[in-house]
Amino acid sequence: MSVPAHEVSVRPFEKEDLEAVSRIEQACFDDPYPEYFFLQLAEANPETFLVAFTESILAGYAVIDRWADHYHLVSIAVQPEHRRKGVAQLLLNQLESLLPRERAIRLEVRKNNKPAIQFYTKNGYKLVGLEEHYYRDGEDALVMEKNIDARQNDGNATAKKGKSLLVN
Ligand SMILES: CC(C)(COP(=O)(O)OP(=O)(O)OC[C@H]1O[C@@H](n2cnc3c(N)ncnc32)[C@H](O)[C@@H]1OP(=O)(O)O)[C@@H](O)C(=O)NCCC(=O)NCCS
Repeated sequence: MSVPAHEVSVRPFEKEDLEAVSRIEQACFDDPYPEYFFLQLAEANPETFLVAFTESILAGYAVIDRWADHYHLVSIAVQPEHRRKGVAQLLLNQLESLLPRERAIRLEVRKNNKPAIQFYTKNGYKLVGLEEHYYRDGEDALVMEKNIDARQNDGNATAKKGKSLLVN
């Protein structure tokens, strides 16, 4: 049975996804992570490295790493042609629901990355700091965090109507 348009499914990363994830990485970032780093992340985070499919195409990925005092959203990215279909939303909803509500979730985002800042703000992430010259090209990073209170009161931003979250 074919997957209806805009249907999104999510499952944990598998090694066979590496090429597609790297392609997304290169399409989305000027300073892409190398493949070996994704493999390290996958080994350390088998449950919280997720990939999303839309129309049977691997359209996005997201990975959260467990740090000493918080969970760290290392990266989330969606192929440009599959954006604004709720792919990132489903990835984040699923990740947040997998993590025990005992720690905050923190991330860095480029100061000028308005779409991502909007996305995180919509999802209850607040600005908690600034890392000057954080990126290789000198751009500052905003540090954003969803603290435990926000996580406890949150039912997760709702996925768009007509979409489903399928976890294999
Ligand atoms: C940020 C990113 C992951 C969002 O992915 P996406 O699948 O398009 O996001 P969604 O469709 O799930 O959007 C969910 C909500 O986030 C907000 N949002 C997402 N993209 C937005 C944009 N370009 N402008 C404003 N708000 C945006 C909206 O509130 C949106 O809800 P709506 O479509 O109902 O208005 C995507 O733009 C991307 O891959 N960017 C490049 C990589 C990147 O910068 N990653 C973040 C690194 S910190």
